[in-house]
Amino acid sequence: MKVHRLERDVFHLVGERYESGTLAVLDGDRALLVDGMAAAPDAARLREIVTVEWGKRVVLLVSTHYFSDHLAAWNLFPETPVLAHEMASATFWTEDFRSAEEAAHYRKPTILLSGGLELSFGRHAVRIFENPGHTAGTLNVELPAADLLHVGDTAVGRMAYLRYSAPEAIDRALERAQRRGRSRILRSHGEAAGPEVLASARGYLEGLRARVFEARRGHGRVRAITIDECLPPGPAATAFESFFHARNLASIEERGLYPEAA
Ligand SMILES: [Fe+2]
Repeated sequence: MKVHRLERDVFHLVGERYESGTLAVLDGDRALLVDGMAAAPDAARLREIVTVEWGKRVVLLVSTHYFSDHLAAWNLFPETPVLAHEMASATFWTEDFRSAEEAAHYRKPTILLSGGLELSFGRHAVRIFENPGHTAGTLNVELPAADLLHVGDTAVGRMAYLRYSAPEAIDRALERAQRRGRSRILRSHGEAAGPEVLASARGYLEGLRARVFEARRGHGRVRAITIDECLPPGPAATAFESFFHARNLASIEERGLYPEAA
């Protein structure tokens, strides 16, 4: 597990499985966690670091979205409330591809939110608000004092994942995230980044749409569109991004996305 100190009281822990992360906000002996890792060993290590090495009491768990690759730690803190979007259970039961081990991470959320709320936690105002896009039940978490916005899986690496939504909805969510104007962006996978990852995800969606148009006009097959043809200039696509790009192409064909390009 990688542990990044973003501020004296704000840490980002990145697990081994899928690089799923947890944001930890500290206040004295209390900790608030956002997202809970993808696998039991990562979750156990997270608990050890926060409760044993740091000596913190975990008082609130916040889920950006209720997919099994972000819930592994929630059953390790059975006394701690879990705050999630009111669509959390619907989100969980629409998830495809998860293993039995991952499905077993489920814990019923205890506080359901629609709209938004702001809570004071130490020196931080923690703003939690719905931002439907990647899923209909996605929450984003903003810490203005840390100039930080956590967007969940709204951006996946430098791209976006369409399977559980529609490109237009994700683009709107990315735009809402951009409007917050934060310079530090956390996603549910990978390390903290800058706002360019939001611009890149929007650019990817735009590029993908254009390539689908071209393919449907007879210039190739949708399944043959490469991620590099869609991503804006920048680092080469990672294996993680390429994996979800292939899933996007399958979704476009299976669901007839971009009908205006048919
Ligand atoms: Fe995820």
